[in-house]
Amino acid sequence: MDIQLIDFQQHGDERGSLVSLEYEKNIPFKIKRVYYIFNTKENVIRGYHAHKDLKQLAICIKGSCEFLLDDGKETCSIVLDNPNKGLLIESFMWREMSSFSQDCVLLVLADEVYNEMDYVRDYNEFKKMVS
Ligand code: TYD
Repeated sequence: MDIQLIDFQQHGDERGSLVSLEYEKNIPFKIKRVYYIFNTKENVIRGYHAHKDLKQLAICIKGSCEFLLDDGKETCSIVLDNPNKGLLIESFMWREMSSFSQDCVLLVLADEVYNEMDYVRDYNEFKKMVS
């Protein structure tokens, strides 16, 4: 499975760094929702779901965390520890997030508003749906 990472240009100068996220420039979908995960407790695993339609882009803007992605056939893991890189998560991708550093701030952009009906929270159901 190919991990889809987007490189963001960093506008750095002597004052510090800035990254801009903009539809069609570096974000391949219209952003309808933004959320961020922080203050995550040690040894916590989050996620444990897939989405039927939703596309998301995850950016670890501070600290680090690990993503496990599973398309039903293959799994792969990636550590996000760079605010200049975004992980694109397509629909029907099971995800688990772990190994959060204490200072981790995980920013997520989504192409739809929150909709519980779009979640697949049962792994066996997910496997059936992708087979
Ligand atoms: P949850 O789906 O458990 O987070 P994750 O699987 O990414 O670790 O979400 C935690 C709570 O936040 C849950 O009660 C649903 C709520 N929530 C929203 O209200 N809006 C959102 O955009 C998201 C992602 C979650």
